[in-house]
Amino acid sequence: MANMFDLSGKVALVTGASYGIGFAIAKGLANAGATIVFNDINAELVEKGMAAYKAEGIDAHGYVCDVTDEDAVNALVATVEKEVGVIDILVNNAGIIKRIPMCEMSAADFRKVIDVDLNAPFIVSKAVIPAMIKKGHGKIINICSMMSELGRETVSAYVRQRAVLRC
Ligand SMILES: NC(=O)c1ccc[n+]([C@@H]2O[C@H](COP(=O)([O-])OP(=O)(O)OC[C@H]3O[C@@H](n4cnc5c(N)ncnc54)[C@H](O)[C@@H]3O)[C@@H](O)[C@H]2O)c1
Repeated sequence: MANMFDLSGKVALVTGASYGIGFAIAKGLANAGATIVFNDINAELVEKGMAAYKAEGIDAHGYVCDVTDEDAVNALVATVEKEVGVIDILVNNAGIIKRIPMCEMSAADFRKVIDVDLNAPFIVSKAVIPAMIKKGHGKIINICSMMSELGRETVSAYVRQRAVLRC
């Protein structure tokens, strides 16, 4: 029987994966044979990520890209398709949380959380889906949180967007 977890020949984009949970997900995908592409918000983080992947023996491709910027995301996906290949697996991991009680939270902070945690997965998914349809397959994994089930008074924006993303 074929190895169900063999990802040889697959290209995986994990957003916001210079460190943290995204890095761990990417490491798991790389260990299963996938080619890893990741992005992060600035060059310093991407360099840090590249060094961390290298230290794990992973030949990753790192790019600077803000996932809330639709033009930048479209440019990133076009570059990845040209330089690495069509993205077979997208993990929408990049995210932020602002632990501020609702009555003290500005609308700007609320919008920022929604932008990174909800709008960005839409933007990145929309950018990768056409090539996946053309290829006939693809997987998109959205990272959510237990807080989509269990609210908490200091994280109102985070809870709302996670609940929507889970639907
Ligand atoms: N840490 C937890 O306990 C926990 C629990 C449940 C779910 N999550 C979710 O898992 C994911 C990763 O969490 P983490 O703890 O590793 O977070 P983290 O803050 O350690 O890492 C998030 C990564 O996303 C990047 N990022 C943030 N905004 C970005 C943007 N606009 N464009 C590109 N990259 C951006 C950051 O620079 C960072 O590399 C998040 O979506 C988070 O909501 C985390």
